[in-house]
Amino acid sequence: MPRLKLRKTNIMRIIEESLNRISCPANVHISVESSLQDESLWVDSEHMIDILSELEKNSLEAMPDGGLLIIQVKEDEGKVCIALTDTGRGIAEKDRNHLLEPFFTTKPPGEGIGLGLPSAYAFVKSYRGDFSIESNADPQKGKTGTTIRISLPRKMILPDKQAKIIIHDDEEKSAN
Ligand SMILES: Nc1ncnc2c1ncn2[C@@H]1O[C@H](COP(=O)(O)OP(=O)(O)OP(=O)(O)O)[C@@H](O)[C@H]1O
Ligand SMILES: [Mg+2]
Repeated sequence: MPRLKLRKTNIMRIIEESLNRISCPANVHISVESSLQDESLWVDSEHMIDILSELEKNSLEAMPDGGLLIIQVKEDEGKVCIALTDTGRGIAEKDRNHLLEPFFTTKPPGEGIGLGLPSAYAFVKSYRGDFSIESNADPQKGKTGTTIRISLPRKMILPDKQAKIIIHDDEEKSAN
C-alpha cells in the first residue's frame, strides 16, 4: 500500500535541499526563480527532494559541455507549478513515448536505471497533480533542451483508498 507522509512544508526549502544533493559542475549555471506569495505546500518533503534531485541530475547529465538549468516556481489556479528547464541535448523523438516506462534509459549500462521519470510521474499523480515533458533535440528546430513541469494542488489532497496517509503537523517534532 503506498504511504503518503504529508507535512506542511516550504517548497523553496525543498528545492534548495534537492540542489544540495546534487553536485553541479562549474560549467553549469543553476537559477531558481519564484513568484509565489505563499510558499507552503502539503507534501512528503523527503520524497519530493529525492524526486527533484533526480530530475536535476537528468538535466546535468544532458549538459556534458555545460549550460543552464532554470527552476521556476509559480502559482496557477490553486496549484504550485515547478518547471525545470535545461539547455541540454534534448530528448530524441523516438524516445519520447518510452520516458514513463520503468527501466527505460538511454544511458550506458551501469549509469542509468531508468526510474527517475517514472518515479516523478507516480509521485505527482499520487497528489493528483500534473506532469509534462517538453523537449527539443533537433538544433534545426531551435535551441535544444528540455522542460519538465510539475504542478501540485496547494490544498492537502486526501489520497485514494489505495494509499495510507500519515499527517505531520509539527515539522520539528516529526523530523526526529
Ligand atoms: N533533462 C533531460 N534531458 C535529456 N534527456 C533526458 C532528460 N531527462 C530524462 N532524459 C532521458 O530520459 C531517460 C530516462 O530518464 P530517467 O531519469 O527515467 O532514467 P535515467 O536517468 O536513464 O536513469 P536513473 O534511474 O538513474 O535516473 C534518460 O536515460 C534520458 O535519455
Ligand atoms: Mg535519471
